[in-house]
Amino acid sequence: MSTPNTPDLMQKIVSLCKRRGFVFQSSEIYGGLKSAYDYGPLGAELKRNLMTEWWKDMVHARENVVGIDASIIMHPRVWEASGHLSGFSDPLVDCKVCKERFRADKAPRAEAGQALTLTYADKGAAKVAEELIAKQFGVTLTRDGKDLKGAVAGDRGYVCPVCGSPFLSDERQFNLMFKSSIGPVDPLGAVAAAIEAGTLGGLTGRELRSAIEEITKPTAVYLRPETAQAMFVQFLNVQQSMSMKVPFGIAQMGKSFRNEITVEHFIFRSCEFEQMEMEFFCEPGTDDEWMDFWCKARMEWWQRYANEPGKFRFRAHDKSELAHYAKGCFDIEYDYPWGWGELEGIANRTDYDLKKHAQYSGAKIDYFDPTTQKRFVPYVIEPAAGATRGLLVYLIDAYHEEEVNGEIRVVLRFHPRLAPIKVAVLPLVKKEGMPEIARDLVNAFLKRGINAKYDEQHAIGKRYRRHDEIGTPFCLTVDGESAADGTVTLRDRDTMEQRRISIANAVDEIEALLRA
Ligand code: GAP
Repeated sequence: MSTPNTPDLMQKIVSLCKRRGFVFQSSEIYGGLKSAYDYGPLGAELKRNLMTEWWKDMVHARENVVGIDASIIMHPRVWEASGHLSGFSDPLVDCKVCKERFRADKAPRAEAGQALTLTYADKGAAKVAEELIAKQFGVTLTRDGKDLKGAVAGDRGYVCPVCGSPFLSDERQFNLMFKSSIGPVDPLGAVAAAIEAGTLGGLTGRELRSAIEEITKPTAVYLRPETAQAMFVQFLNVQQSMSMKVPFGIAQMGKSFRNEITVEHFIFRSCEFEQMEMEFFCEPGTDDEWMDFWCKARMEWWQRYANEPGKFRFRAHDKSELAHYAKGCFDIEYDYPWGWGELEGIANRTDYDLKKHAQYSGAKIDYFDPTTQKRFVPYVIEPAAGATRGLLVYLIDAYHEEEVNGEIRVVLRFHPRLAPIKVAVLPLVKKEGMPEIARDLVNAFLKRGINAKYDEQHAIGKRYRRHDEIGTPFCLTVDGESAADGTVTLRDRDTMEQRRISIANAVDEIEALLRA
């Protein structure tokens, strides 16, 4: 019997996570910090195991992928080139048609009532935009090739800089990046000095903001909002130092930070989280094939460790959802207790990022293929997964309740390779040499690199339940016969079946089961 997939399940998981040391609210004794979580002893193991499996599959198992571990704080120009910084001090607006995010004060001007022509990449994109505008705004436009005619400017005074549309979001003074400062200059001191010198007098609110932004700009740095950009920025260094031949990938996993407006569902969306991303560089024209390849590989990977592979699905982004530079995007979604939601996005980012970084840095970023003698800017397929979100998915997937002898048994059916503790070694009683045999066994496991735990607290049944609840796949019980016949009882977490195995073979046997 598994627990129904309802919001109630989330309450049970959140409570188990705290009770058993998987996830705690950050700074709890101070009342907690909104949307920040600490991974406890078992959560830290689970996260590490999940990320190690990803690294093994994406990097170690593939000759054409290498990994990097870049700094979280990067040159601020990186975020200008990537588009993450635009509008930091000015109102941000989203075009509801082509999804471009832009600064209102830099957008092309248009008088209220002025007739507009909206222009898209091709006829197909124009058709998609025409349908979206009709559906979402009830406005019928006339299509002429890649142009749409018949729209008029509103009283905003500007239109979208990419497609010319007046269908825009409200302006917001907001950026999702966390800002800090670097170096010995105190940015607030510099602002105070400017106020004292009277250089900020008589400015409007917006002008004042821009002026302060200018003063603090030389020391401003940001916590990365995604791990992806370092892979673009280091493309040349990695390709040249490792003599990589396109097609090849650069992978990275680690912390990302977003000042999310909406934080929700426990660790599903938080301000500090971990990502596992790979940028796969390929020759333009081969990108569709590689997109198919990575979609398949990534779905297989998530399903490999799940009890219920049917709870993962693909969702193709329709054209109106795509960023203007993306050629295609598929989300791998999971059926969370609150409904289907994103777990990983696999995007065809074309040559957009490499070209942007070439433009902003002045570096020549391209690739010369020695076989075909062709020089080109590679296209990029990006499988971008959430590690902490993945941890939540496997917690939900693992959580089971079942009735055993009139009692509810809670068991986390983690895949053995994800389980925080692989094997618990339990002396039946704390005497007659049993603790010594158990400790020797634990040491033998640890020497082999298998996370084993000695546990002598409480009655044996209670100990089994405790290890079921934290997902330990195997328990070895040392009893009165162990010293005499050199055997222990091996108990399987999922079936609860028990059989005797030899102490001498125990480590090999468990190791084989973990590899299976
Ligand atoms: N480089 C592309 C990129 O970062 P994304 O869809 O914004 O794409 C990739 O992020 C994955 O990172 C998401 O599918 C999700 O699993 C995870 N993620 C994004 N924002 C998150 C947040 N605030 N909290 C937890 N996980 C998040």
